Amino acid sequence: MYILGIETSCDETAAAVVKDGAVVLSNVVSSQIELHRKWGGIVPEIASRAHMENIMPVLHEALSASGKRLSDMGAIAVTVGPGLIGALLVGVSAAKALAYSAHIPLVGVNHIEGHMGAALLEAPDISMPFVMLVVSGGHTHLYYVRGFRDYEKLGQTRDDAAGEAYDKVAKLMGLPYPGGPVIDRIAGEYVSAPVNGVPKFPRAYLEAGSLDFSFSGLKTAVLNYVRGRDMSDETVGLVCREFQDAAVEVLVKKSVQAMRNKDAGILVAAGGVASNSALRSALLDASRENDFRLVIPRPGFCTDNAAMVAASGYRLFKLGAASGLDLNPQANLPMEKMKAGG
Ligand code: KG4
Ligand code: ZN
Repeated sequence: MYILGIETSCDETAAAVVKDGAVVLSNVVSSQIELHRKWGGIVPEIASRAHMENIMPVLHEALSASGKRLSDMGAIAVTVGPGLIGALLVGVSAAKALAYSAHIPLVGVNHIEGHMGAALLEAPDISMPFVMLVVSGGHTHLYYVRGFRDYEKLGQTRDDAAGEAYDKVAKLMGLPYPGGPVIDRIAGEYVSAPVNGVPKFPRAYLEAGSLDFSFSGLKTAVLNYVRGRDMSDETVGLVCREFQDAAVEVLVKKSVQAMRNKDAGILVAAGGVASNSALRSALLDASRENDFRLVIPRPGFCTDNAAMVAASGYRLFKLGAASGLDLNPQANLPMEKMKAGG
């Protein structure tokens, strides 16, 4: 069965055609990064307008690149939330119009379920339950996934999301938006350089046993170090490395703790920050040390795309979670609140 996936929750207008939830026939992502860069972050009104302009060309391209027609689609899967409401509205309206006019079933997918779908694309054989670390621009969450629409939240950030912390720290050092990939690259260049005065930044573990996260203290520590300082390239590089070390260490330790608590055998890492090279290698080391299986989508599937939405949409559709044409986007839509029937 072919599924058309649509994703417009943030700053990527994306559409994809996926066969049987596993084979990606096309995956088109139109990024708005250049439009937002000069503002140093995402401007919601600009995002909505760009989605409006891009959605039809992106849909056409995804269908034509797949070699399939709209009438070949068994369902249309679309991100309904969480995200920017004006941005979500563009994708959901397009999905509803296509579903109505071509008589194709509609499936609303939570954006985090979408990120989980990327892991299903990467490893279609993985079985639930598993522990999932979601790290993106809006989320830093640990979930225990028993099955589709059976999600237990184990912990979440109490302030900034990991990606948000990356982006803010980059911004305060004058690095371009989005900061995550930039810090990843620069930190990599300074991986084994001597510390040269740059301190170790704090790791927030919170109360003993807590699986919650906090990145605001780390961000403030970087701000306090950087403020008023003449930043040479070397200092920027070392701050990137030390910041990344602190962020990654906490993400990995809490993930391992969650695996132990649940006596789980599989850890899934998902979301844009899961494309971070230091996080990927630290999680891989942890999986070897602690003898669990690690599934991380390839970097291009970690950041927002529609193939991941189609992959989850396929499974949700098979489980009977089709949506009506009264489907509406929701800016706040916790994954654990998703109902079994769609
Ligand atoms: O999942 P995503 O594409 O969109 C959201 O759902 O938020 O994640 C975007 C976030 C941004 O904060 C971006 O800086 C971060 O993921 N990111 C990275 C990397 N690539 C993207 N953070 C660290 N290292 C990377 N390589
Ligand atoms: Zn995302």
